[in-house]
Amino acid sequence: MSAGFDKNVQLSPLMEDVGFGFASGGSVTMEPRKGNLRPWFHRLPNTKSVVVYAGMPNYGLEKISDYIELNRSKVKSMPTVVSVAVIADKSTKDEFGPVVPEEYIIRDVKKAVSYIVENSLASVIEINISCPNAGKEPFIYADTLESLLSELDSVERNVPFWIKMPHLYDLKQFDSLLKVIVEHNIRGVTVANLIKDRGKVDLKDPLTDDIRGGLSGEPTRTHSLELIGYTYKNYGDKLTVIGVGGVFRPKTHTLRLRQGLV
Ligand SMILES: Cc1cc2nc3c(=O)[nH]c(=O)nc-3n(C[C@H](O)[C@H](O)[C@H](O)COP(=O)(O)O)c2cc1C
Repeated sequence: MSAGFDKNVQLSPLMEDVGFGFASGGSVTMEPRKGNLRPWFHRLPNTKSVVVYAGMPNYGLEKISDYIELNRSKVKSMPTVVSVAVIADKSTKDEFGPVVPEEYIIRDVKKAVSYIVENSLASVIEINISCPNAGKEPFIYADTLESLLSELDSVERNVPFWIKMPHLYDLKQFDSLLKVIVEHNIRGVTVANLIKDRGKVDLKDPLTDDIRGGLSGEPTRTHSLELIGYTYKNYGDKLTVIGVGGVFRPKTHTLRLRQGLV
């Protein structure tokens, strides 16, 4: 189960009992976040999609660590994957206003990641680089991602790190991120996040521009699969590839397995 269902990492034993191999909890931040003004979600029933505009709400890592500790003895063998949002903490945002300089976002992410490592809260840390900050996603470019990962390389780690990839239609840009990733201490990539470019989606429901957010579900399936295939073919020897997007039933997943994609 991909990140966003269990925002505060409270449900690990349940996810294991239901039968998931693993679930990515979060995305979390060091400080608590209230998220965006509601509504956060908008259903597109005919498109089989949900528009997501939550803004990374979570209780913050100190509180979340209590849930992880509480559940530790109840989880049998499922790894605990914790997704960290690449976004500035509230105190940093208050200091700078809507556009926070990238170095301060990196500082806050490093704080969150170090806290998880030092307190042994996760079996895997997934870094979610496709978080909006003032409407844009500052770390989906090779140069800014390079700065982020260079800084994270100095975190002494006892668990693998993965990167949650943005759902990019520009394959050159997507590849430039993978090129940066394999140069750093990153073991896997989760492909891919919500679709931000609505022009690429065959909408079967009305959706006006005032309803903000990225699209999940069926519209992600075909292109996610292309991105997964591309990543596996070109970087499969260097990275574990975790496939995400538009999985509605076991059959969809089995098909991917047969194609050797996951
Ligand atoms: C309600 C909801 C909340 C989400 N929140 C997050 C999140 O916090 N972090 C993240 O990396 N992805 C988040 N996502 C994106 C999913 O993890 C996934 O990448 C995307 O929805 C495509 O997969 P799907 O078709 O299975 O929904 C969210 C998706 C949904 C539907």
